[in-house]
Amino acid sequence: MSQEITVRDLSFKPFISHEAILTRVKEMALNIEKDYKDRNPVFLVVLTGAFRLAGDMASFIDFPCEWDFIKLSSYKDTRSTGAVDIEFDLTMDVKGRDLIILEDIIDTGLTMHFYMEYLKKHAPLSVRLASLLIKKEAMVYPVHIDYPGFFIENKFVVGYGLDYNHSGRNLNDLWQVI
Ligand code: IMP
Repeated sequence: MSQEITVRDLSFKPFISHEAILTRVKEMALNIEKDYKDRNPVFLVVLTGAFRLAGDMASFIDFPCEWDFIKLSSYKDTRSTGAVDIEFDLTMDVKGRDLIILEDIIDTGLTMHFYMEYLKKHAPLSVRLASLLIKKEAMVYPVHIDYPGFFIENKFVVGYGLDYNHSGRNLNDLWQVI
């Protein structure tokens, strides 16, 4: 990783390497496998930020499962707007199914707090949450993370699917704002 990069008008320093991310995602996948290998769960991927997590997680999962994608947004520039938009919702009938939500990052907790409440109307059997990153000190809305990746400080990050106004998602490593 180089020492510093610029994404749009912000500078970022190296934070978590791609190698360390993959090691942790594999551990998360193994923990999920222990709990779900005979339950044919549905992985619900929260787009757009979790698309890389989903791809790598899928490569480490070796048991029957299904996948669906939802698109939620609550962020503008480097801040939460305080409201959640469902840009597109489930395409599958998840009634009576075991769901595992895959999220890139929990910041205030608003997005997941809102969506997990909303999901109840689809009557799943169970819902658990996996998130690659958790900004614990930023959490305002309580959310339980069943499969946490990394607990990080309350600073803006980009890379590995996470963006700054649509830029930076392609970066393999995670970078922290300076
Ligand atoms: P929350 O609703 O405040 O928990 O925010 C969750 C969403 O905000 C995530 O799914 C991301 O899309 C976005 N987000 C929060 N923090 C960051 C960050 O540091 N970088 C990029 N996106 C972030």
